[in-house]
Amino acid sequence: KRLVVIGPPGSGKGTQSPIIKDEYCLCHLATGDMLRAAVAAKTPLGIKAKEAMDNGQLVSDDLVVGIINDAIKKPSCQKGFILDGFPRTVVQAQKLDEVLDKQGVKIDKVLNFAIDDAILEERITGRWIHPSSGRTYHSKYAPPKVAGVDDVTGEPLIQRKDDTAAVLKSRLEAFHKQTEPVIDYYKKKGVVADIHAEKPPKEVTVEVEKALS
Ligand code: AP5
Ligand code: ZN
Repeated sequence: KRLVVIGPPGSGKGTQSPIIKDEYCLCHLATGDMLRAAVAAKTPLGIKAKEAMDNGQLVSDDLVVGIINDAIKKPSCQKGFILDGFPRTVVQAQKLDEVLDKQGVKIDKVLNFAIDDAILEERITGRWIHPSSGRTYHSKYAPPKVAGVDDVTGEPLIQRKDDTAAVLKSRLEAFHKQTEPVIDYYKKKGVVADIHAEKPPKEVTVEVEKALS
């Protein structure tokens, strides 16, 4: 399967994608995670992306299209993939279609994680992540066994630099202006499944499984 997950910041893309990935043996490609790794490693890509990310704006289409094109060619992604946080503009969606057309494949399903903006601040400001694995916790909704520590490795958890109420406002603005049109782009192709992303995590997983079956 070739899947896309679209939703605003904090809607649960990074929580649900690893579960779907394991169930369907897909590769999980999250442009935000890849960009954060590039920023941390101070690669040329990371240096170019950092300022936009810190301010909650999108990085340029060329940069993210480049990383996705490279990633979907990998052998581990040939059985299928789940794109988390990409495409985020109509241009990105068109570029992705061009690449998939050449391979004679297409996006099978777009999961639209619909949720009210009002819920997102609490989700974002309570989030803790384990950077090297991408494991995500929430101080209230998904707490680690020991506060501030990853359950699996015992390593420290961190908060994302863009997870403040102020930067969230810019991220939401970018979502409504630039990413919502992508949902319409895929609706015209008839591949969108709406998911009630405000429900508890397990119920969201059940909805996603139904949409994919
Ligand atoms: P990115 O990393 O993609 O961030 P985002 O879209 O803002 O999404 P988040 O990762 O914040 O939210 P999520 O939906 O994954 O939520 P999560 O599951 O963690 O992008 C970051 C930046 O990179 C962008 O701003 C941009 O600059 C750049 N970028 C990335 N892709 C780009 C692209 N294609 N083009 C241009 N620029 C790009 O959940 C959030 C919290 O809630 C967690 O604590 C979790 O435990 C909790 N939670 C999850 N589900 C539930 C639930 N059902 N109930 C209660 N709590 C829940
Ligand atoms: Zn995420």
